[in-house]
Amino acid sequence: MQVRPFHPDDAPSLADLYVRSVRGIGLRHYLPEQVAAWAGLGPSAERLCALMEDGRMRWLAVGEGGGPLAFADLEPDGHIHFLYTAPEAVGRGAAAAVYARLEQQAREMGIAKLHAEASEAARRFFLKQGFTVTARRDFEVAGVPIHNYAVEKVLG
Ligand SMILES: CC(C)(COP(=O)(O)OP(=O)(O)OC[C@H]1O[C@@H](n2cnc3c(N)ncnc32)[C@H](O)[C@@H]1OP(=O)(O)O)[C@@H](O)C(=O)NCCC(=O)NCCS
Repeated sequence: MQVRPFHPDDAPSLADLYVRSVRGIGLRHYLPEQVAAWAGLGPSAERLCALMEDGRMRWLAVGEGGGPLAFADLEPDGHIHFLYTAPEAVGRGAAAAVYARLEQQAREMGIAKLHAEASEAARRFFLKQGFTVTARRDFEVAGVPIHNYAVEKVLG
């Protein structure tokens, strides 16, 4: 497994990975209607490309064949918007590999705190990475109640 920067050509496969990740992993922790609403938030390849080219940093973990296993971003204020692993790669360290690069970059940039809104699966992942949960967030997506957690990590 390697970690490399995002390239615009990656956008279609990452847009697909997002939806497969939500549908494949989300059902472990959320109801089908919640997963459907969440998957509906998935950006098109064009939208994802535009987001990834807006100045944030972004990385992919890729397997031996070069296909993406996981991806994540880092906004200049320390916010992590995306952290998604392909369902066939879950539990193999893909997110951890991308996150390690992300945290290293944040430290090099002098970012004082990382923060994210974490799903149930991501909450467990972020706790492993030394984050703390600061709040549970209850909200609606397309009229469907759902929740996640505000998490943060102060970088020493
Ligand atoms: C959260 C997510 C990115 C984790 O990806 P992953 O590639 O499976 O994570 P890793 O294999 O790198 O796991 C790293 C560590 O976190 C732990 N971990 C990850 N997900 C976990 C979970 N759901 N429950 C418990 N522990 C978990 C692993 O056990 C591992 O621990 P270890 O270092 O002791 O072995 C993945 O579950 C995912 O894509 N979920 C669906 C989309 C999502 O929720 N994205 C976040 C949006 S806020």
